Amino acid sequence: MKKFKIEELVKTYGTPLLIFDEERFIDHLLELETAFRSTRFKTGIVYASKALSLPYIYDILEYYKYYIDIVSFGEMLTAKASDFNFKHVFFHGNNKSSKELMKAIELGVAYFVIDNYEEWDRLKTIAKTRKEEIKVLIRINPRVEAETHEFIKTATPDSKFGIDIEDNHLIQRIRGERDLNIQGFHIHIGSQIFRKDSFFKAANILLDYYKKLKEQDIILPVINLGGGFGVAYTEKDEAFSLADFLKDYVLFLEHEIKNKDLAIKEIYIEPGRSLINDYMNTVYEIGTKKRVPGKNYLFIDGGMGDNIRPALYGAEYTAITDPKRPNDKMDFTIGGKFCESSDILIDRISLPDPETGDRLMVLGTGAYTYAMASNYNRFLKPMIISVHDDIHTMVERQSIEDLLKGENHWKIR
Ligand code: LLP
Repeated sequence: MKKFKIEELVKTYGTPLLIFDEERFIDHLLELETAFRSTRFKTGIVYASKALSLPYIYDILEYYKYYIDIVSFGEMLTAKASDFNFKHVFFHGNNKSSKELMKAIELGVAYFVIDNYEEWDRLKTIAKTRKEEIKVLIRINPRVEAETHEFIKTATPDSKFGIDIEDNHLIQRIRGERDLNIQGFHIHIGSQIFRKDSFFKAANILLDYYKKLKEQDIILPVINLGGGFGVAYTEKDEAFSLADFLKDYVLFLEHEIKNKDLAIKEIYIEPGRSLINDYMNTVYEIGTKKRVPGKNYLFIDGGMGDNIRPALYGAEYTAITDPKRPNDKMDFTIGGKFCESSDILIDRISLPDPETGDRLMVLGTGAYTYAMASNYNRFLKPMIISVHDDIHTMVERQSIEDLLKGENHWKIR
């Protein structure tokens, strides 16, 4: 990769600026692809689009023949805009509308992941009117408590996602299904999980379920094990190498499948955060420094509008400053410019005392930041550039015209 100076990028493109390291992202895709392979079953890595759904990202994933998941009309049509191969698309969501289902059938989505019985009926009704084969996975809740933030756990008994693994009607319904082609199950136990044993445990519960079904002559060939693999935001996070983990995971799955004598033909995983997060950083400008009792604030020209994660989940980040100052380090609190007390990006960080106008780069902001960006306080969404051989604009900076589009004026009646 050609080296670009942050100072020059900022001069040209302004701040806040998200910078994507395309080359390392692609290397990572290739590394994972090699790690998640088996001679016993077909494997596939499904990028969980929700982490960052953009035409630029879909173009890369399509080129490298990755799979993606989508959860909405918006993600579906964004993938379509990239001419994405819909045979590589999984359609998730807990409340898919008939309109979304119809469009997904029309586009040739590979797998519909059913979340609940009503949605199942809705898809079944549509299937009766169509001639296409509709392949389905059923999302089940394996009831595995993963250690992560309450808001991003998805397999607690009262979770809004999936059908409970202990639901007695499920097997009956699968047996009676004639209109949809049920291929298997999907699980996803939560996000930002560091304990590998949670993944092994959940997979084992699912494989036991396949075994239970096999004993009742229901043989299903496909498994989707979801995502949730943790990444390190700060040095406190003990993230693991996903590639190393995937090699162990494949061995584990091969062993358990043989042990339980199952006829599994395809296994998918669905990482979002761990695929993209480390390959993007956000650069801000320090606009004001302020001292209050017990705190030294550095106020930056962005905040919760471009990164809601600290306010929403208490997420922690680390940052560096540019230019590097020789001063002794001090503790700072990084505050955004939104009118909200919770608009604190980093609660405490030790940095050499910067000057107003210096840049601050928050590290690891690829996942769930731009994807969750808002126009709160009417701030504009930031720009994303990719640096590779050259600089490419992934997303233009939002303009006031974009912001006002479709917003009408009142007239005297
Ligand atoms: N599959 C399904 C069905 C999911 O719901 C998710 C994430 C994933 C895969 C990918 O999970 P990942 O590998 O990215 O952990 N906004 C939150 C995260 C929400 C995750 C939602 N579902 C955050 O910023 O931490």
